Amino acid sequence: MLTPDEIKAKKALGEKISMVTSYDFAFAKMAEAAGVDQILVGDSLANTMLGYKSTREVGMTEMLIFAAAVCRGAPNTHVIGDMPFGSDANPELAYDNARRFLDVGCASIKLEGTPEGVIEFLRSKDIPVCAHHGLLPQTAENFKQKGKTEEEAAAIEAAAKYTDSLGCFEMVLEHIPEDLGSRITKGVKAATIGIGGGKFTDGQVLVMHDALGMHPGKIPPFATKFVDMYALGVEGFKKYVESVNSTKQV
Ligand code: KIV
Repeated sequence: MLTPDEIKAKKALGEKISMVTSYDFAFAKMAEAAGVDQILVGDSLANTMLGYKSTREVGMTEMLIFAAAVCRGAPNTHVIGDMPFGSDANPELAYDNARRFLDVGCASIKLEGTPEGVIEFLRSKDIPVCAHHGLLPQTAENFKQKGKTEEEAAAIEAAAKYTDSLGCFEMVLEHIPEDLGSRITKGVKAATIGIGGGKFTDGQVLVMHDALGMHPGKIPPFATKFVDMYALGVEGFKKYVESVNSTKQV
C-alpha cells in the first residue's frame, strides 16, 4: 500500500498516479487486482450507489459502511475516505470523523475546499489529508467548469497553495482549465490528481461508474468509458431470465 510520502515521491519522480472511486467489496477487489494506486470512497456514492440527486444526501453512517467494505476488498491499496457534507463543519467534528475513517482502515481522508481551521487541526493531529479544489460538488451552485476567469483561477490557485503549505500530501483538482491544472501542479509539493483538470496533473481520478460504463446515461466530457458494464450486465441478466424461463416444469 502506498503511503502519503510514497505518493508524493511518485510526483517527484514524474510517475503518474492512478485513482478511481469504488464503494464496495467486489469492485474494490477488482480495482486492487487492476493495480490502481489509490481508491477513493467518494461521496459520489450518494448518486452512483444510492440514487440521490446530490452528494449532500449522505452522512458518515453511509460513508463508513461503504468505506469499511472497500478496505476489506482492497487491503493492500491506499483507500481515501471522503468527508461528507457537514462532517467537517468544525475542527473537532472533522477530527472525530476523520478518525472514524482511519479506524475502518482508510489510509487518509479527503475534504472539499478550506473549511475554517479544519485542515490546520487535522494536520496538527497527523491526519493525512487530500485537499479538493476547483469544482466542489457539495457546495457548488452548478457543475460548470471553475477557474475560467482570472479572478476565479487566482482564488483556486491560492487555495491549492494554502493547503499545500498546511502539509496536504495530495489534492484533487476538479473541472478546471488545463493550464490552471498545470500551473498548480508545478507550484505545489502535494501530488495533484485531476478529474477534468487536464492532462498535466500528477495523476487522474475517475468515478468508477463512468470509467466502467455502469449506467446508460451521459458521462462528463472529461471522463472516458473504458468498458460497457451496463450493457454486459443487462445481457447477463437477460440470459439468466431466459434460462429460468426455459426450464421445464415437472
Ligand atoms: O466523490 C467523488 O467521487 C469525488 C471525485 C469526483 C473526485 O470527490
